Amino acid sequence: MFKKKEIMCGIVGYIGNRDAYPILIKGLHRLEYRGYDSAGVALINAEGKLNVYKAKGKVSDLETVAKDKDCAGTVGIAHTRWATHGEPSVRNAHPHVSQSGNLVIVHNGIIENFAVLRKQLAKKGFTFQSDTDTEVLVQLIEYAEQQHKKGLVNAVRHALRKVIGAYAIAVIDRNNPNQIVAARKGSPLVIGVGEKNSEFFIGSDASPIAEYTKNVVYPDDQQIVVCELGKELQIINLENEPIDVAIHKIDMDLSMLSKGGFRHYMLKEIFDQPSCLSDCMSGRLVKNTNNQWDIVLSCITNFKKKLINTPRFIIIACGTSWHAGLIGKQMIEQYCQVPCEVDYASEFRYRNPVIYPTDVVIAISQSGETADTLAAIELAKSKGAFIFGIVNAVGSSIARATNSGIYIHVGPEIGVASTKAFTGQLMCLYLFSLALAKEKGTISDDVYHETASALKSIPEKIEEILKTDKEISQFAKLFTYAKNFLYLGRGWNYPVALEGALKLKEISYIHAEGYPAAEMKHGPIALIDCDMPVLFIATRHQHYDKIISNMLEVKARGGRIIAVITKDDIEAKKIADECIEIPEILADVEPLLTVIPLQLMAYYVAVEKGLNVDMPRNLAKSVTVE
Ligand code: AGP
Repeated sequence: MFKKKEIMCGIVGYIGNRDAYPILIKGLHRLEYRGYDSAGVALINAEGKLNVYKAKGKVSDLETVAKDKDCAGTVGIAHTRWATHGEPSVRNAHPHVSQSGNLVIVHNGIIENFAVLRKQLAKKGFTFQSDTDTEVLVQLIEYAEQQHKKGLVNAVRHALRKVIGAYAIAVIDRNNPNQIVAARKGSPLVIGVGEKNSEFFIGSDASPIAEYTKNVVYPDDQQIVVCELGKELQIINLENEPIDVAIHKIDMDLSMLSKGGFRHYMLKEIFDQPSCLSDCMSGRLVKNTNNQWDIVLSCITNFKKKLINTPRFIIIACGTSWHAGLIGKQMIEQYCQVPCEVDYASEFRYRNPVIYPTDVVIAISQSGETADTLAAIELAKSKGAFIFGIVNAVGSSIARATNSGIYIHVGPEIGVASTKAFTGQLMCLYLFSLALAKEKGTISDDVYHETASALKSIPEKIEEILKTDKEISQFAKLFTYAKNFLYLGRGWNYPVALEGALKLKEISYIHAEGYPAAEMKHGPIALIDCDMPVLFIATRHQHYDKIISNMLEVKARGGRIIAVITKDDIEAKKIADECIEIPEILADVEPLLTVIPLQLMAYYVAVEKGLNVDMPRNLAKSVTVE
């Protein structure tokens, strides 16, 4: 009967002297990419009345429900949900209120032992309005408060000591409106600290906070944060020991969080790539005294010995980050001459992999909160491996779980379908593997500088491709009928074909597969007919002749071909039905260009189908559970 899990949501909290409601609603809109099937808000007004509003659907539906209602109060918490178990409904939406009506909670995560706790509490006379694990938690806190009578902080501590699972929570007590108590284990949580402790902000990431303060705190696992007006922020662990508070400055400005005049975040983020990659290279790709491009990475100099001497690299990641890892493997093996394995983090963590303390494990993640990647890191760490992170979200769990790493600096990525993070991850993998190869002496100066300067030319070349955006939007319309789609590439571009197929799947709901072009003859060619569009990455590099014959094989069976070709190429153009030209560039770094038209293609097919591009069905931006 019990539909237990409430996960991958966004939580927001505010306490201060401003009206909480507008801050909470704006925060929910910023976090909506995390989950968007129901939402709710709780406020304590000046008379100490607790008002809770919930809605099934998006944050805008919640605003409709709360319209013309009492939304006064300078303290409140709010939640946007994404469920896997238990249908989205007002009953299951957060916030959840305790039996006495005094305590209210929002939660992101899973309480694994909720069913047992629910039974125990029921025996103590507690009843339940919803099917959620979260309601069990607020009842447990209420029970602890009744037992210990030492206030909310103590009650939260006692309750969390009984909990198995993951959580980021914010709890308020209508009898004590000067305080919000938050805590985390496994799920992300950021606390914003206002001037002179006059106000505090709570968020699943920094996006609901950045507009109001740049001072943030990243609590660690099993830590409780007490936000009390006029008092220093206090952190304790579950043993009631005080923890030092480390305040960090965030460099997130609002323009990064808005659509910047684009129709969707995804399109904005595709067009962000030239400036993001320049940011990613800045201070890392520098001119040396011989006027050549050189790579300087402190994450290498600080751990040179470990990175130079490792006999093996293992890359772990999920989804798009895994595709970046596949290209990273080619870089590391080609430039550093060291074997490099790539594993899905979700498989790696359970296949009992052989890991040596001499191994360097590279964990790639945009959000820095992907549960499978985090667990794979913990496994590798437990076997003594050195963990190197390539992460976007600053201060995220994965960033803090690694021994060293590099931030990709592409700014917040809000569209669920990852775009600029993919090219940012690739850029960092190029910089890392080239710099390490230089240290190891496994790359010639010529190849090193030639590749480094090719990287430097990437932003302007992407600008060129983005100018063909209208053309791509035109012929994308021709393929909205498709039920299936094949993406084919070779060498450096095989993983790009995988990534292109994933983008189309994610946002247009068309079944698409990426394949090494040479694999066609071993099966997939059976799928070819006039209804099967095939996208070839057919640029003029070492596999060109072979790709041309693959295209002819598809053509011979009536397949419709879209080809990504090198500017002014004739031969491939003659065979393909539609072509997207990209500027000529060094083969090794071409994935940074060939992926752009594939991102735009997927975007325009989804737009043409009238789908919600930024919040595609069944998906969420960071997968914080396995
Ligand atoms: C990509 O568009 C998807 N959002 C998804 O596959 C994503 O890449 C995957 O969940 C990994 O996320 P991470 O990079 O944040 O760890």
